[in-house]
Amino acid sequence: MTETVEFHDRMLSLGLARVSEAAALASARMIGRGDEKKADQAAVNAMREQLNKLDIKGVVVIGEGERDEAPMLFIGEEVGTGNGPAVDIALDPLEGTTLTAKDMPNALTVIAMGPRGSMLHAPDVYMDKLAVGPGFRRGVVTMDMSPAERVNALAAAKGCSTDDITVCVLERERHEEMIAELRTTGAAIRLITDGDVAGIIHCAEAERTGIDMYMGSGGAPEGVLAAAALKCMGGQIFGRLLFRNDDERARAKKAGITNFDRVYTLNDMVTGDVIFAATGVTDGSILAGIKREPGFLTAETILMRSKTGSVRRMTYRNPTK
Ligand code: FBP
Repeated sequence: MTETVEFHDRMLSLGLARVSEAAALASARMIGRGDEKKADQAAVNAMREQLNKLDIKGVVVIGEGERDEAPMLFIGEEVGTGNGPAVDIALDPLEGTTLTAKDMPNALTVIAMGPRGSMLHAPDVYMDKLAVGPGFRRGVVTMDMSPAERVNALAAAKGCSTDDITVCVLERERHEEMIAELRTTGAAIRLITDGDVAGIIHCAEAERTGIDMYMGSGGAPEGVLAAAALKCMGGQIFGRLLFRNDDERARAKKAGITNFDRVYTLNDMVTGDVIFAATGVTDGSILAGIKREPGFLTAETILMRSKTGSVRRMTYRNPTK
């Protein structure tokens, strides 16, 4: 008879923070070195090594890609010692590989863990995303609204002018029309060159970051990771998968998705309680990047549990010798 081990998220959370710290520290040497691949590889290796020390029966459900395109931390890879609870893991060892290579703000290492079956197995396609922070009625903004309607609705809910709303958007050609429409409302737009997990998390700490709402398309796996963060911090996220060709539809089918037009809510993307950890690689509005001083590297990590809504910030000073 197989014994089912309970998912003790409280006990595992520190282990998860160690995993994200290790990935950030490993990629530190690659900050500003112009080599995205090497930066990512360093983070992947370190994340995998640390994950394999945890007493879990883990399966990567959001990872570096399909088995044939990612040698490590591929979707379906089993991680952990095999002794412990059966868990699903969503990770991005380096969210913002280009940000790291160019030493630009908001590169993070990200990982979320929950009981088996707790997270959407999102295929590696684009997702149209919309997110706001906590404190608003459910559906205050929706995917059906136009970008301008969303700004108006959020301003009305906040009791402020549309000029006082800031929307975060990935700077991409595909977003030009949306940006032009947002401009007509008078809202400010924080354009980011990469890193929409951070962009979405920013909405949950609007006072600190100045960002009220996130919208636009980016990676679907990043959408699930952001949903895991908002599940802990509060807030709302909606996502609709976007398909550019039949190969992408086939990927979705393989991941068990049948309704291609579905709008996923936060609780559709993350169905169970999860723990979430992210460590700053480069300085950003929610986390400080890796700091160097002679003989030490210091990393800042945010560690959260959805069961309690607890958000912990930790700094870790690690001797380099
Ligand atoms: P990488 O860290 O893998 O480079 O991804 C960064 C990222 O900016 C994500 O945050 C975002 O979801 C996605 O890429 C956007 O994709 P694209 O660059 O194709 O618009």
